[in-house]
Amino acid sequence: DRLSGSGKRLAGKRILITAGPTHEPIDPVRYIANRSSGRQGYAIAGALAHLGAEVTLVSGPVALPTPPGVTRVDVETAQEMANAVATALPADAAVMVAAVADWRVETSDQKIKKTAEGAPRLEFSENPDILAMLAQSPRRPALLIGFAAETERVVEHAAEKRTRKGADWIVANDVSGDVMGGEANSIHLVTGDGIEHWERMPKAQVAEKLAQRIADAL
Ligand code: CTP
Ligand code: CA
Repeated sequence: DRLSGSGKRLAGKRILITAGPTHEPIDPVRYIANRSSGRQGYAIAGALAHLGAEVTLVSGPVALPTPPGVTRVDVETAQEMANAVATALPADAAVMVAAVADWRVETSDQKIKKTAEGAPRLEFSENPDILAMLAQSPRRPALLIGFAAETERVVEHAAEKRTRKGADWIVANDVSGDVMGGEANSIHLVTGDGIEHWERMPKAQVAEKLAQRIADAL
């Protein structure tokens, strides 16, 4: 516990993380995806496990090793991620860090060929919003945390997402600079109590700070 300094503040707590992008197939050889290295989500999963939490990491396709002590479930599409999240419940807290593709594509069973008719037209449909679904679920985790990567009006957009999606906290990440794929993040934590502006710090430190905040809250 925190007084003995053992660091296992989250022993006995189940925490669900989503991380990485999702890949939405176009045909057997092509897909659309969001730009996400998965590093921030993996760092958070590792930091929570380090504090003794039982962590399930539902991960889109990334090139990262599984952090020690973390149970990893690999998925590709948003629909697979939604199913894996539902299967991983119940949880005391969930941190949705994944850059989920907002739309999926009407897929072709065969490779789409170049033809004289020119470029194909892709038919899109909207993917399920996993965070919003979890917020409405009868098995909603007591602490539900979303991420929002924004390029402008960062806090305003994050606060709007917190209300619209029914999350407790939104970790707003200012990606107007060179954050994507980089080492450091610029974070504003939006909660029901207000907004905290964190100084720009490495992703590992963001993960550690957020894990401690989660331990305080649970
Ligand atoms: N999210 C999710 N499922 C989706 C889309 C987003 O669970 N289909 C989660 C993300 O993991 C993140 C939060 O919702 O925790 C915010 O994602 P974001 O893409 O910023 O929100 P959107 O509502 O999709 O808004 P935008 O139009 O800015 O993309
Ligand atoms: Ca989105």
